[in-house]
Amino acid sequence: MHIVLGIESSCDETAAAILTEDGRRVLAEQVFSQAADFAAWGGVVPELAARAHVQHLPGIIAAVLQQAGLKPQQLNGIAVSAWPGLMGSLLCGVTCAKMLAARLDLPLIGVDHIAAHLSAAAIESQPLPYPAIGLVVSGGHSHFYHLDGPASMRLIGGTIDDAAGEAFDKAAAMLGLGYPGGPHIDTLAAQGNAKAFALPRSLLHSGDLRLSFAGLKTALLYAVRGPCGKEELKLDKQGICDAAASFQAAVVEVLCRKLLAACRQHGLRSVIVGGGVACNSGLRRGLQDLCQEHHLDLRLPRPQHCADNAAMIACLGIDLLAAGQCHNLDLSPLPTGAAGPRATPA
Ligand code: KG4
Ligand code: ZN
Repeated sequence: MHIVLGIESSCDETAAAILTEDGRRVLAEQVFSQAADFAAWGGVVPELAARAHVQHLPGIIAAVLQQAGLKPQQLNGIAVSAWPGLMGSLLCGVTCAKMLAARLDLPLIGVDHIAAHLSAAAIESQPLPYPAIGLVVSGGHSHFYHLDGPASMRLIGGTIDDAAGEAFDKAAAMLGLGYPGGPHIDTLAAQGNAKAFALPRSLLHSGDLRLSFAGLKTALLYAVRGPCGKEELKLDKQGICDAAASFQAAVVEVLCRKLLAACRQHGLRSVIVGGGVACNSGLRRGLQDLCQEHHLDLRLPRPQHCADNAAMIACLGIDLLAAGQCHNLDLSPLPTGAAGPRATPA
């Protein structure tokens, strides 16, 4: 039974986790989020994120080893998020993983962060049902994949402008809410009327798997800050809840309808979802209802494994290690990812 240490530092979460191959059980995990540090900036500052990774990685790795009651020599592999992501941030995790692998003479496994989001549903759960449609909805991605296995993925559609998480964050900023905005919108939407604002569902009838959230964002801006988008926000507390609920409903409807289209177009009945936006309670409900109605097998990670975490890196690392897909010490981070985050769908 392999025991793998996973390291995640692709953006603004510094994380480490130790998983055992047996049931993909989590022996220990820690996530340090820098999100609060970036609230004042309204987004991640890459240079600051990288410096924080350097500061926090050693302590977090020591902490998971202690929590798991393991010595470094008892590990069987070091998996690290190697692409895509911010170059400075990726370098911290990859360099740290290389040093550990070299010092302990262990296999080094460079992991695709997006593929790892789509492995997170396997953590402490049943093996995933391949082939499947994969949907990654995060701060940087809103993409559909045809999945033939862990890390065997083909891009089949996705956003042509903003990612869903990016749209949530920008919508929250328009409503005077904090960063990251997704969780704020989620909370307020529960108390709002989703029909209060008529917001567009872009590309809903395009017949393909393209997504677009830029128009929705602009429509919300005009709805809450006047026709030029420059007026003061005059909504009361209930109005903000209504705007949040209307915005969230538009995103959820588009994602669910396009996901169903993806299943139909590719003749697949299994759906695997991941990414920070998959924490969204409206989206989770929408996906569960959709999959129940259309008899689709839905795999959703627990909320703590939707957002960036290292358990998903170790989870995919275990599969890659078993398949002998390891790297040499010349592993280099690749900010744009193997296929490129905005690559044209096949
Ligand atoms: O996967 P993730 O942690 O990082 C990336 O790889 O991008 O996703 C972060 C994104 C942010 O845009 C955040 O606002 C969004 O996920 N998010 C949510 C929720 N929780 C996090 N969006 C909507 N509802 C949520 N509950
Ligand atoms: Zn992510």
